[in-house]
Amino acid sequence: MMNRRGFLKTSLAAGALIAGSSSLLNACGSGVKRTDLQPEGREFETVPSLGEEASAILYYASLAPSGHNAQPWVVKVSPQREWVVGGDTKRRLPAVDPQNRELLLSVGAFVENLVIAASAMGYEAEIEVIGRNSADEDLVKVTLKKGKPGNYPLKRLLSRRTVKQGFRPEEIRSEDVKALSDFLKGQLFYYPRGSDHAKCIQEAALETFRIQTYRDEAQQELADWIRFSNEDARKYRDGLTTESMDIKGVAGWYVRNFMGREDVTRDSFRKQGIDLAAKQVEQGGGWFIVTSQGASVSDLIETGRKFERMALMAREKNIGIHPMTQCLEEKEGLEKIASSHSAPVIPQFVLRVGYVHEYPNPVSLRRPVSWFIKA
Ligand SMILES: Cc1cc2nc3c(=O)[nH]c(=O)nc-3n(C[C@H](O)[C@H](O)[C@H](O)COP(=O)(O)O)c2cc1C
Repeated sequence: MMNRRGFLKTSLAAGALIAGSSSLLNACGSGVKRTDLQPEGREFETVPSLGEEASAILYYASLAPSGHNAQPWVVKVSPQREWVVGGDTKRRLPAVDPQNRELLLSVGAFVENLVIAASAMGYEAEIEVIGRNSADEDLVKVTLKKGKPGNYPLKRLLSRRTVKQGFRPEEIRSEDVKALSDFLKGQLFYYPRGSDHAKCIQEAALETFRIQTYRDEAQQELADWIRFSNEDARKYRDGLTTESMDIKGVAGWYVRNFMGREDVTRDSFRKQGIDLAAKQVEQGGGWFIVTSQGASVSDLIETGRKFERMALMAREKNIGIHPMTQCLEEKEGLEKIASSHSAPVIPQFVLRVGYVHEYPNPVSLRRPVSWFIKA
């Protein structure tokens, strides 16, 4: 193994050679992106035991967002096209999501993508929530029946992503808020940038980010899900990569080659994260809060489904969505929300939103379908 100094020397020499008169940026290479891991000319691999259609449906489902990109789903498949979607116990986030609330929301988003993709392939997916407790492994029964092909553009599933940069300051137009609210009737609230409520959310988002950053348990869990090197990104195909964290150029190269999980609890790392979050909360057209009526397994799966529909529509409208969940993970955030509302509300997502100059391409990794199915 080459030590750090040796590596630096060799890399810089190689960089100088490769770069010639071009910038050092080019010599830094890039982090692994989703497209780098796709089979030649295709988006996904066909699992022989499933066949083309079922493999496609599950691949599209897996493009759903999830906390730390843990992809906490597992699917028991059967030839009769009766599947059970469950929560993968090894992919829980106990330090930030001890009740599996976010796991259920993520599984809900997965189910929604599944329903959309099945419909596009000519199947009607019947959904029955069978989980009763948030720790249950079996959560949703899916029965696929032949139906009429729907015309939902699957391209939207391929192009949606979490957006953290490039937000414009304009308010979200009322017609767009209305269109996005359609999926979340009475559950979505928009607070335009500059309003008192938006300022309050902005403050709470940053404050709880800071609190969580200094909670070692949460920070160590985050470290478990950062794929520092390209080698680990390729090996695990989940978690957070330099590309998905928008760490580009020399900084990305440095992280990939010289940083590891022990750095995440260093003060400098924590401070950089907080500085970045402070800049982020200032940007965008305001905040969406997504709430639910109840907190049962079914409520959370349903809310995850509706959230995903809304996020896909937002993509269509060039509206970026950035979940900033610390508010709902740290007790100080929850207390603040409870104290400023007289009626009981159950907030499930705190989302920074805004039109983006250019909607970026998705880069976060996904495990191949064969990795998350069980016979
Ligand atoms: C329930 C849930 C909570 C999330 N919380 C955060 C968060 O606090 N901060 C953040 O930057 N992204 C958050 N995300 C976004 C994920 O990190 C993102 O979905 C994942 O990395 C996959 O990337 P993609 O959405 O671009 O496909 C959250 C997503 C979900 C579904």
